[in-house]
Amino acid sequence: MSNLNDLLEKNQQWAASIKEQDPNFFDRLKNQQSPEYLWIGCSDSRVPANQIVDLLPGDLFVHRNVANMVVHTDLNCLSVMQYAVDVLKVKHIIVTGHYGCGGVRASLEGQRHGLIDNWLRHIQDVYRKHQRRFEQVKGMDNQCDRLCEVNVIEQVMNVVSTSVVQEAWDRNQTLTVHGWIYGLENGLVNDLDVSIDNIEKADIIYDKALQNILGK
Ligand code: CO
Repeated sequence: MSNLNDLLEKNQQWAASIKEQDPNFFDRLKNQQSPEYLWIGCSDSRVPANQIVDLLPGDLFVHRNVANMVVHTDLNCLSVMQYAVDVLKVKHIIVTGHYGCGGVRASLEGQRHGLIDNWLRHIQDVYRKHQRRFEQVKGMDNQCDRLCEVNVIEQVMNVVSTSVVQEAWDRNQTLTVHGWIYGLENGLVNDLDVSIDNIEKADIIYDKALQNILGK
């Protein structure tokens, strides 16, 4: 039976190297965190939140699930958002999708994978919402990439629609919601130009971002 000693050894080396660079690092973090960002990303092992944006422990509050979804009734995601916005007072919520997302591809291909099919149904809803425009996109890979992008935009709108964000804006709290997409092949993030910091501009920004991807 294999054990996890190699991981525990790596942990010791990691903690030692951080302490070497900054002897007080863990002491400072021990009592409080004050991240400026909430990251909502995919669970995919190739999309590690902190590493991609080169942030240390303490800088990023993170929620991840399959295909970076923000489902209106998901108490887990909503609780993370509520704590991040109301208590930690993050200034930015970043929904980060990625190209080649297995969840998005599975939802397009429609093969059965078990319980997760019910989760992926939300992405199929996104596809169906824009079906006419998606049908003009040629090729499976191309369709998959566009759906990865459009899914991020829809999830940004889901974040914007939550009572958590609406109430923060009602009390004039500074909070911007962003949509990014990450390339597995080059490690680079693209901004999908869907940053929203108040409800009045949301629909216009949403329409423009969608047009950039799917045309009119
Ligand atoms: Co994914």
